[in-house]
Amino acid sequence: MKRLLILAVVLCGVLAVAYAGITLYDARLPFGRMWETPAVKPHEAPLPVMPKGSVPVFGGEALLRSKGPEHLEDPVSDRSLKRIFAGKRVYGRYCIHCHGKRLDGRGTVGQSFSPLPRDLKSPHVRDLKDGTLFYRISYGKARMPALAATVSVAERWDVIVFLRAVAAGKVMAGP
Ligand code: HEC
Repeated sequence: MKRLLILAVVLCGVLAVAYAGITLYDARLPFGRMWETPAVKPHEAPLPVMPKGSVPVFGGEALLRSKGPEHLEDPVSDRSLKRIFAGKRVYGRYCIHCHGKRLDGRGTVGQSFSPLPRDLKSPHVRDLKDGTLFYRISYGKARMPALAATVSVAERWDVIVFLRAVAAGKVMAGP
């Protein structure tokens, strides 16, 4: 009986040490665990139904794409904090799981990509023109997915304003 008790106590001790070890290891991971990353829930409001036979008469993705990156410019000149934070929200919804909380390419999902997601504060990205950034976000590049069908045009420009603001040191990238 006594032996059993000692065995139980030793076992508890071993488990406690293992638990503490794993917790410490987890806390020091540069990228988060999958269960901690934000998840996009399905839309709660029903999607508006378009009348049958509707066709776009202006704008549209095909028109933007055919213009080419060098002719694309943010149609809104607003660079206020409000807009920067709107861009940050877009980033948190559509980019953070690959590019990471600090924009350094260390997002949890992104770690399974080869090449790894870009560090969005790197000189490479800083030197890209706004139009090129828009183009890459919209239509992808290598493993960077095309997000035109997911992220609206206005949201794409907002997130670019956010990336520029972080690169210029106006706001912090972190949460
Ligand atoms: C599913 C993962 C994933 C998501 C989501 C994602 N990216 Fe990427 N992104 C990548 C990968 C991987 C690369 C590296 C591609 C390469 O260099 O070949 C990349 C590259 C980039 C680049 C560099 C393009 C270049 O010309 O080198 C930019 C800018 C970028 N992403 C912005 C964004 C933004 C903004 C969002 C959100 C709106 C986003 N990404 C969402 C994975 C992702």
